[in-house]
Order: sequence, then C-alpha cells, then structure tokens
Amino acid sequence: MVNKEKNSATDNRTVVNIDAPNHVTGKSIYVDDIPGMEGMLYLKIFDSTIAHGKITSLDYSEAALVEGVEKIFSHKDITGENQIGGIIPDEPLLAEDEVHFMGQPILIIAADTEDAAEEALKKIKISFEPLPVITNPREAFAKGKILSPSRKFVLGDSAKAFSNCKYIFEGKTETNGQEHLYLETQGAYSMPTEHNSVKVFSSTQGPTAVQRTIARVLGVGMNNVEVDVARLGGGFGGKEDQASGWAAMAALVAYVMRRPAKCILHRMEDMRMTGKRNPYSSDYKIGLDEHFNILAYDVTFHQNGGAAADLSPAILERTLFHCTNSYHIPNVTATAHSCKTNLPPNTAFRGFGGPQGMFVIEAAIDHAAKQLGIDAMVIQQRNLLKDGSEFPYGQIVNECEAGSCWNEASSKFNIEKVKKTIATFNNQNDFLKKGLSVMPICFGISFTNTMMNHARALVHVYSDGTVGVSTGAVEMGQGVNTKMLQVAAETLGVNKSNIKLESTNTTRVANTSPTAASATADLNGKALLDACEQINERLHDFIRTLTGNDEDAIKIINEAVYINEEASVYTWKNIIQQAFMKRINLSAKGHYATPIIHYDKTIEKGHPFAYHVYGTSIHEVTVDCLRGTYEIDSVRIIHDAGKSINELIDLGQCEGGLVQGIGWMTMEEVVYNENGKLLSNALSTYKIPDIYSVPKEIDIEFLSTEKNNLAIMKSKAVGEPPLMYGIGSYFAIRNAVLAFNPSSNITYSSPITPEKVLMGLYHKSEQ
Ligand code: MTE
Ligand code: HPA
Ligand code: MOS
Repeated sequence: MVNKEKNSATDNRTVVNIDAPNHVTGKSIYVDDIPGMEGMLYLKIFDSTIAHGKITSLDYSEAALVEGVEKIFSHKDITGENQIGGIIPDEPLLAEDEVHFMGQPILIIAADTEDAAEEALKKIKISFEPLPVITNPREAFAKGKILSPSRKFVLGDSAKAFSNCKYIFEGKTETNGQEHLYLETQGAYSMPTEHNSVKVFSSTQGPTAVQRTIARVLGVGMNNVEVDVARLGGGFGGKEDQASGWAAMAALVAYVMRRPAKCILHRMEDMRMTGKRNPYSSDYKIGLDEHFNILAYDVTFHQNGGAAADLSPAILERTLFHCTNSYHIPNVTATAHSCKTNLPPNTAFRGFGGPQGMFVIEAAIDHAAKQLGIDAMVIQQRNLLKDGSEFPYGQIVNECEAGSCWNEASSKFNIEKVKKTIATFNNQNDFLKKGLSVMPICFGISFTNTMMNHARALVHVYSDGTVGVSTGAVEMGQGVNTKMLQVAAETLGVNKSNIKLESTNTTRVANTSPTAASATADLNGKALLDACEQINERLHDFIRTLTGNDEDAIKIINEAVYINEEASVYTWKNIIQQAFMKRINLSAKGHYATPIIHYDKTIEKGHPFAYHVYGTSIHEVTVDCLRGTYEIDSVRIIHDAGKSINELIDLGQCEGGLVQGIGWMTMEEVVYNENGKLLSNALSTYKIPDIYSVPKEIDIEFLSTEKNNLAIMKSKAVGEPPLMYGIGSYFAIRNAVLAFNPSSNITYSSPITPEKVLMGLYHKSEQ
C-alpha cells in the first residue's frame, strides 16, 4: 500500500533552497558573471549633476575621440521612442532639453574597455540653466505638481462620526525613504541576434517590462526582444520597474552597433541614479468613543514620488488599501497625493506603500493612547479586524487571523509578564530605559491592479523522464524556484533530482507580471500546477490503455506507478519512454488567473485581494539614555503562514523582512540636500542593519492553519508582510524615550536614529 503520510505534501515542506550550494560556493551566476563575447562594448552613463534645469550646451566631441570609445549615444540616437515610463509615459531614457533629477541619464558611452569609457566621461562638457528644485512633497503639492490624479477612499461618514467621538486627536507623521541595496547592482548584458532582434540578460523582477520597454525604445516588436533572467542578487522592488532603463541602454547599443554590450552600475552610480522607497508626509485625525473604539479616521498622504511616475501611482493605491492596517474602523476618509519632486523617481520597495500607510494609523493610535494615559495595545487589541468587518475599499473580512495571532502572541510570549518586568526595570534604572510595543499586521495578497494577477508555466518532460520547468517567476533570493520545484515534484510524482528549474525567459513564458506583490509563488505555482495536471491526465489515460481498464485509478508517487492504490510494474521512466513512442504530448503550458478578485476605481470599491496575511509582533528594546543609542532586545512574532510549503524559506523571509523593516524604521537614513543631491550616497554614509544591530533574540512561530484560501497548496504569501513588523521597533524605542522623559516632544518621524533619540531624551518643554 502507498504510504500516503510519507508522500504527502508535508514530506516536501523542509526542502533546502536549491540555490544554497551554489550561493555559498560562489557558483551562482549573476549578470556580470556571464562571460563577455568577442567585441563586447562596456557602457558608462553620463548623468545630470543638477536636480532641475535646462541643458544649455552639451559637447562630447572630445570624449568621442578617446581611444577605444566607439560611439556616444544621446537621445537623438534612439531608434524608437525615448520613453521608459511604465504606468505613465513621463520618463525619457535619456534627457533631451531638461533634467529633472540629479543622476538622470543624459548620454551613454560605448567603449571597448571600461577604462576608455571612464576616461571619456571626464571629457564631456555640459552647462545648465538651473530651475527651482523641490524635494519636499508638501511643497510640490502646494505648487500643483502631482504625478497622477489624487485618490480618495471613503467608508461610512467620518465627518459625521467625529461629532460622536469622545476623544479626537490630530497630528502629522513623516516616513523617510529606503535604499534597496540589493547585493547585485542594476545591470544588463545584450547581444544582437538575427532578424533585427536582440537578446538581453537582465537583472530584473519584470522580464516582460524589460522586453516591452526595449521594444519601444528600439522601435521593434516585442517578438524581436528576448529577455532572460537566471536569478537576481536581490531586488526588493527596486528592479520591478527600474531595471528597464539599463537594459534598454544595453539593448540600444547592441542593436545599433551590432555588437554585444554590457551595462552594469557601480554601487555609487546605482545609489545616485535609482529611486528608493517613497518617503511620505501625512496628516491624521483619529476619533474614539469612551470605550476606546475607533469610530473615525481621516488621513491625507503626501507621497514623494520623485521626478517621474514610475510605480508611484500603484504604490499610492496600496497605501490607501493598508491605511487602517489590522483594524476595523467604520468611518474612514483617506486621501492620497502623488507629488512630483526633483529626486530620482521613487519606486517599489517591499510592502509597496503598505508600510507607509500602516505607520500613520499606528502613530495615530499611539498618540491617542499617550494622551489618554493608556497602553496603545489597549486600543489596538480592541479594534482588531474580525470576520465580517469591512475594509475601506469594500472587501469583507474573511478567514481573519488578526485576533488569533494577537491572542497566540499575547499568551505564548506572556505579554503581561513582559510589561511588569519592563516597568520594574524602568523603576530601577535611571539611565537605561526599556520600551515595549506590539505591532499587528494585515497585508492584502494580489496585485492591486486586477489585470496583473495571472501567470503561465511551461513544462517539458523529456524522453528520458527528466523534467524542465519554466515559469514567469524570477528567483531573487526569496526561494520561489525551490517552491516551484516542490509543486512540480509533488504534482507529477517525480523526484526533485530529476526536475530542473529553467531561467525565466520571455520566449518560453510570455506576458508575465513582475515578480512582486508577494504573489509570485501563488500565481506561477498555480499555473505550474495546471501544466503538471495536464501532463498527468495524458499519462494516466495512457496507462489505462496499457492496463486495458479505463476505470483504473492511477497515481504516480516518487516515480512509481500505483494502479488502484497498488504498486504496479510501471515506473515513471518507462511510462514516459512508452508514451513518447506512442507520440503522446509530453509538454504542457499552464495558465492561472486569480478568481474572485475585482475592483472598480471609479467608486474605489471591490474585492481586490485574494486573501490577507496577518501576524502580531512584540518588540522589546533598551535605550541608553546617556548616549541615545539603543538595542533591540527581542522581537517575538506569531505569523500567519497558512500551511507553509517550505518552513525554512518562509522563516527566512520573515527574518529578512523584519530586519529590513527595522532598518527602514530605525537607522537607514536617506539624505538629500536642498539641491537634490544625495548625501547618503555610499555604504559609509548609509547604514543598514548588521549583525550587531539585529534583535538579540528573534522568535518567530507560525500560526499554522489550513484555510480555504487561494494560496498555493494553502501556503500563504510571505515575501512582504513581515517587513511591516519592523514598525513595532520604532514604537518600542519611542516608548523607552518617553519612559525617560515623559514630556519629550519627539515627533512621529522615522527613522528614529540615535541622534533623534538623544534629542528626544533631553528635550525640555517650553513652559
Ligand atoms: N527576499 C529576498 N531574499 N530578496 C528579495 O529581493 N524581495 C521581496 C520579497 N523577499 C526579496 C525577498 C519583495 S519586495 C517581494 S514583492 C517578494 O519577495 C517577491 O517574491 P514572492 O512573490 O515570491 O514572495
Ligand atoms: N504590488 C507590487 N507591485 C505591483 C503592484 C502591487 O500591488 N501593482 C503593480 N506592481
Ligand atoms: Mo515587491 S515591492 O512587490 O517587488
């Protein structure tokens, strides 16, 4: 008999990331590792040295004479359209008469060596007529500079509800940007191919976006552009849209010069030229009744979009979708403006606007709690979402885990005891203060743009029984290829060692959505499931022709064929060989489009998300009140993983997301001066979390559930949600500051750097 237990999905759920051995032995191949072909050109980009102005003169005649320089490309050398804007066509590949941010590409130098290109760069002469520089989103908004129409979500009637509130609090918040700092910088390598075509290796989350952009810039069909992605050394949203420009430059040079061309940014170029997480400046007003139920919430977001729309309109939308985080609030008016400033176009970053929205409601709750003299967690817990609650966008809460995560965290990590311990500690210590906070999360899974929620997969079973799998998913460290391998192995009943995950290639899987929105394993996994099931169906029919009984129930498990639950003489390999001889199709293309979801932008209502991911985190920190420095003592989390398909990978995503979120909230400080110059332009001036700054203790436990949602094999999406736990560390540090100086004026402004903490600790109120 079949051992169903042993061969069930759980068997698979501890698979080690298939990239791990090659990563740790340095064998994994990134774009810059692809060996250059004969005649390869190296590209260097000449970018703007001012943030806003007219180009009055540009002379690169001397640069063009440098030995080894083959050609210098300006916008005039673009064979198609000088346009790379994804959502809104507002971004040239190369500046024409005006520049809109410092770091904006103006010329591309193509040379035989990198040195020659560098040399030429120094010989370019440019002058500008400067125009006013705006870096602040509120100032931009006041001057009518917006990137896309403002949006408003309305639930109930907040104006009316405020008149019934016992308590009303208002304030402002600021969240700063965040540099992606993927280990592999932006880059692409392109070569001309036959029939007016190009092939491009790109470090992109969006192979189809790169393909579409190149086709536009070159003025050719998408079928003339092949994009191939093996893996990324991290993307974190920074390569969802912003990989396209560099790939278009490499492709343009390859196309025009009929020579291979490589464009790889150095770290400082990458930091200077690319956009980051959108900073937000926001206003809130929160109203509560006498029992601390939140009755009304008004919020206005000013998103700092930078100089072009990029993905900011979509990010803005997700800010609105998550503006009430994990809480049920019956009356909400949420308004969002995408503001145009003279900074590099800001872009997707893990959470995609969600974290920026969630910070504001947490600040509003914290503000109310402080004024009311209660713990924020009293308000938080009381107002958690429940099944049947309505989100401001009309979706009804279903299979809610807000309460279960909170309760599990509260009891498992004994929050009452932690509270007492901290109170005692703070009583006994004058210059060390501890702070505590709880951060619940709720994150919607699906691209907010409904039409993007579809995927395809291509499966080939070769005549020797080995399998090749292609999907639209891009591996960027999050382990999606391992998950795809698990899906194929499980569904076909083939050993993992006989399955190969191919690169993501636009000629094998077309019209892909980017690897983003945490939905990649769900979308591509379900498409892969569909392809595998088609092959299964053909093979099962074929086996029944062999047994002569079309009632037989066929199963293939670990490459053994079971007929009516009994082991048979057939194996995977010999069935494949026989099926091939009988000319049976051993390939299949699978397709999946998320059912249920819909959204009507004209009324801002619908059911945009397949499901939501929940969780609760508890943060403890200690602040050194002489120095302003702090340590995060512990973060303890109950995370709603569903039935995790791969616990090791999902745990890694939770830990990585948490630490990246803590970095954003506490120490990563993107600084531009008033001229729009990036001051935090290197790893010496931009600090990300290291081993010394991560929480001393991280305890993540999964709330393991098996619900009826649309997650792949009931394993909920995990890529982005854990980032938002990081917001809790901000509030824990803030609470410690207030334990030392209860009258501190410390504002709701992130990151809460040691400098801000020190100022907050020693602030004296005016009277
Ligand atoms: N994890 C690693 N190691 N590297 C990354 O670049 N990107 C994050 C997250 N986890 C990222 C990561 C982001 S922004 C997203 S949207 C998801 O992974 C995308 O992958 P998924 O849809 O497979 O979760
Ligand atoms: N999330 C992430 N990336 C996206 C989205 C989204 O909702 N929409 C478009 N790109
Ligand atoms: Mo992730 S910000 O959706 O790439």
